[in-house]
Amino acid sequence: MKGIILAGGKATRLMPLTKVTSKQLLPVYNKPMVFYPLNTLLQAGIKEVLIIIAPDYAGHFLHLLGSGREFKARFTYEIQEKPRGLADAFIIGKDFMDEDSVAMILGDNIFTDDLSKEIKSFEKGGRVFVKKVSDPERYGVVKFDQDNKAEKIVEKPKEWISDYAVTGLYVYDKRVCQFAKELKPSDRGEIEITDINNKYLELGELDVVPVKGEWFDTGTFDSLLAASNYVAKHNDSK
Ligand code: TTP
Repeated sequence: MKGIILAGGKATRLMPLTKVTSKQLLPVYNKPMVFYPLNTLLQAGIKEVLIIIAPDYAGHFLHLLGSGREFKARFTYEIQEKPRGLADAFIIGKDFMDEDSVAMILGDNIFTDDLSKEIKSFEKGGRVFVKKVSDPERYGVVKFDQDNKAEKIVEKPKEWISDYAVTGLYVYDKRVCQFAKELKPSDRGEIEITDINNKYLELGELDVVPVKGEWFDTGTFDSLLAASNYVAKHNDSK
């Protein structure tokens, strides 16, 4: 299995912190943010990682992460010219993935659990990781049927459907590249990973796995602070 870190985007919610640097290079306590999602992939034994970045700070990522040798892995870089949506990762990453399956993680998502078992056990289809949240309207949300089976995923629902948000870690087989290519942009002009998840769901091939530990989507000031505080409190190397 290969890995992709999606670390582009505009980061408008973190302005002016992100006026002169990329969100994923900001500190989360004692490490740059991108180290955390990278660690989630490396922990799962993934050795080949594609890092997708925005044009402005590409050199900074290269400087920070290099070839990957230091991490006993191999890093490849691609530029995403415009933030076209999360599903763009599988269009940009098609050649990199080749025939393999992929674990894609957002560069601003921090998982405190070791998810290697859940990543390594993947065989086919798609797998998403969900977490109960107090603000589901910010995320892709899982609608469950009467038997508690995932029925549909709704992007940023205006009306409450459940408290279970789809987090920023996704595992797919190689068909994801074809599914991404077929997507039409949504009303907000992005190609949506939620549409990919619904495609796998319709095929009966989407696993929905709960995240037991903490999960931080560090795209806002409050969540960035909460993540830093969590790491400071639980950091072994202090
Ligand atoms: P978001 O937090 O949804 O978007 P953003 O980072 O541009 O922030 P804001 O909403 O404050 O403007 O993106 C989630 C993650 O995905 C983040 O790490 C950036 C990344 N991303 C891309 O790399 N390319 C994209 O096209 C999009 C939409 C996001």
